[in-house]
Amino acid sequence: MRLSGKIALVTGAAGGIGGATARCFARQGATVVLVDIDEVRCEDVLRQILQEGGTASCAVVDLTSEPQVVELFANVRRTHGRLDILVNIAGGDCEPAASVEEIDPERAMRNLDMNLKSCMLCCREAAKLMKPQGYGRIVNMSSLVYRGSPNQFSYSASKGGIYSFTRSIAMALGSFNITANALAPALVEVDAFVRALGPERWKALAEASAERYPLKRIATPDDIAKAALFLASDDAAFITGQILEISGGARL
Ligand SMILES: NC(=O)c1ccc[n+]([C@@H]2O[C@H](COP(=O)([O-])OP(=O)(O)OC[C@H]3O[C@@H](n4cnc5c(N)ncnc54)[C@H](O)[C@@H]3O)[C@@H](O)[C@H]2O)c1
Repeated sequence: MRLSGKIALVTGAAGGIGGATARCFARQGATVVLVDIDEVRCEDVLRQILQEGGTASCAVVDLTSEPQVVELFANVRRTHGRLDILVNIAGGDCEPAASVEEIDPERAMRNLDMNLKSCMLCCREAAKLMKPQGYGRIVNMSSLVYRGSPNQFSYSASKGGIYSFTRSIAMALGSFNITANALAPALVEVDAFVRALGPERWKALAEASAERYPLKRIATPDDIAKAALFLASDDAAFITGQILEISGGARL
């Protein structure tokens, strides 16, 4: 097992990618703190992990709230005394497919808060635990649209911001044996898309995307979880400040 004895905090753990990552880490021996704003789905993932014999707990937190994030990490310190791995997966796009002329400042700020601010707050609090212990692995969720997108403006800006923020903390924290890297998936098959688009529109989007990708399929949540596992493990001990595109070769 690659994460035996490690304490790992996974945000967005109620979601498609976060749930798969939390389960993967638990199977690899980590004690996992599942964090999400969605209590019902978070408890579902917790149940699955416990049924598989893993060790985990759930924390219901709005990660855009600074006091709630501070309290979350204070609880981790009280309960576990340390934090080895932070995986920031919570996020999403609440302003998809708008034209440039339709950019809405409120929804744009919501995207920046939900994706970038939440990630920055969690990294800040994690650094306070990781620096004194001289060990840490941070994995942040960007997206392939960090390169830009013709119809996701504030979302791509938030994901580009996550990449540059990750490089900055990699520079600042490296001497404390803390690595920080980012993941950049192309389209991933998650229930949230089916719920948002309906099965027909989702199928059309998934098929059209798969056709464009050299590997001729879109990603599964497990594809992303395995990349997160690599970057969170000691196999990646000398990798920091990088972005890993998990895209089936999209946009080469
Ligand atoms: N699915 C994709 O195609 C894809 C591609 C690239 C990047 N991503 C990124 O991967 C991450 C996970 O996405 P997913 O596809 O699994 O979607 P998802 O909707 O299934 O998961 C996102 C989770 O984040 C949680 N969350 C959102 N705001 C929160 C907040 N303020 N506080 C706490 N939790 C919050 C949601 O409740 C949800 O459980 C996101 O950051 C997303 O931008 C997804």
